[in-house]
Amino acid sequence: MATKAQEPKGKLGVMVVGLGAVASTFMTGVLMARKGLAKPIGSMTQYDKIRVGSGEDKKYLHYKDIIPLADLNDIEFAAWDVYPANAYESAINAEVLKEKDINPVKDELEKIKPMKAAFDHNYAKRLDGDNVKTVKDRWDMMEQIREDIRNFKKESGVDRVVVLWAASTEIYVPVDEEIHGSLAALEKAMKADDREHISPSMCYAYAALSEGCPFIMGAPNTTVDIPAMWELAEKTGMPIAGKDFKTGQTLVKSGFAPIIGTRCLGLHGWFSTNILGNRDGLVLDEPANFRTKEVSKLSTLESILVPENQPDLYGHGNDEDTQYYHKVRINYYPPRNDNKEGWDNIDIFGWMGYPMQIKINFLCRDSILAAPLCLDLVLLSDVAMRAGRHGIQRFLSFFLKSPMHDYTKNEVPVNNLFQQYTMLKNAIREMGGYEADEQID
Ligand SMILES: NC(=O)c1ccc[n+]([C@@H]2O[C@H](COP(=O)([O-])OP(=O)(O)OC[C@H]3O[C@@H](n4cnc5c(N)ncnc54)[C@H](O)[C@@H]3O)[C@@H](O)[C@H]2O)c1
Repeated sequence: MATKAQEPKGKLGVMVVGLGAVASTFMTGVLMARKGLAKPIGSMTQYDKIRVGSGEDKKYLHYKDIIPLADLNDIEFAAWDVYPANAYESAINAEVLKEKDINPVKDELEKIKPMKAAFDHNYAKRLDGDNVKTVKDRWDMMEQIREDIRNFKKESGVDRVVVLWAASTEIYVPVDEEIHGSLAALEKAMKADDREHISPSMCYAYAALSEGCPFIMGAPNTTVDIPAMWELAEKTGMPIAGKDFKTGQTLVKSGFAPIIGTRCLGLHGWFSTNILGNRDGLVLDEPANFRTKEVSKLSTLESILVPENQPDLYGHGNDEDTQYYHKVRINYYPPRNDNKEGWDNIDIFGWMGYPMQIKINFLCRDSILAAPLCLDLVLLSDVAMRAGRHGIQRFLSFFLKSPMHDYTKNEVPVNNLFQQYTMLKNAIREMGGYEADEQID
């Protein structure tokens, strides 16, 4: 039964894992927006209006007028990073924003000094910072993060905390039923210091949930996408969301694929490639880290254009000759820094099988697209917690490249952007005490 969200009492702590390009752009934007010096463009929670009620009672309202969202003025930031640079230095180093857009909030950014990271070099070989915790084992790593969260709460006086992963993509950790299948097995492995199956990000997630904080996975890591973490989220009554911010190419894909599907056009293949030169790109240049991203990016199309449902349209051309060919490439190219350029080549076919091509060239800015997602995911997870929603937050799929779903029960993720938007709107309605519905707006 859907529950209305409780009003917030005090400040909201936002603890960000990773203080790189995305995190510093997010923080700078929030601080600038609350001074009235910048606009939080791209943020659904700040701009979107949705319908509530119907007939004569129909109204179009901003989210804040439907659900009790935390105010931007009530946010306090903290972060962890492998490098000691504070949020101001990090924003300057990232070169996403111009100095004129950072300097007005320099004092506040400088105060955000990263705590020592829970880090394992084997999970991101290209990083060599030394702002790292000394830990006995994975359990100790998790306990130290819990302590950080408790200290931050005490020192800042915040009422609630949301933990957001905006750190580098870790190497791919495939789901292992024996270790990740239950909470008991996961805890056992953490205590046994099983470094192969327990990533540092799992320690952050475990710590966050245990301290009563929602956890959001912004990278493609499998961290909370395992039954053990679903069990922990249920046990602690906390929301979890993931994985991988849906920013550039995948946003386009999840919005464009429905055009092909809805018009019953055929698809021979979809080739996506992009170049980027930020630290994220550097980490993803390592094949084991890229694998995590690839798995996440590939999942988008398959549930929108389903070969089994439409064999004539989507049952052609890949390795097994059972479906269309789908390829994703990321290339590290330093000169472009955060300004990613993506190309999509889509080979479609129409009436009587005649081929056509669509080309999309997206010159985007990675962190500019990711920052509003950080804000929306944080604010909505906080409301979800206050509405008593726990476990996987499917309504947040709209913001995520590879939405979490219960694959042990053969649940299919919703990747179609417009279906995701319906889920988002209905969750907002329910958390605001209105009925969910599917009326046309
Ligand atoms: N920008 C986008 O469009 C986008 C989209 C989807 C996902 N992402 C993901 O968001 C994440 C952040 O991207 P970015 O461009 O800010 O990268 P970045 O490299 O600029 O920042 C990541 C930071 O995380 C730190 N870090 C790594 N491991 C850590 C750990 N265990 N604990 C604490 N800090 C750690 C690194 O030192 C680095 O400063 C990446 O995983 C990226 O794949 C970004």
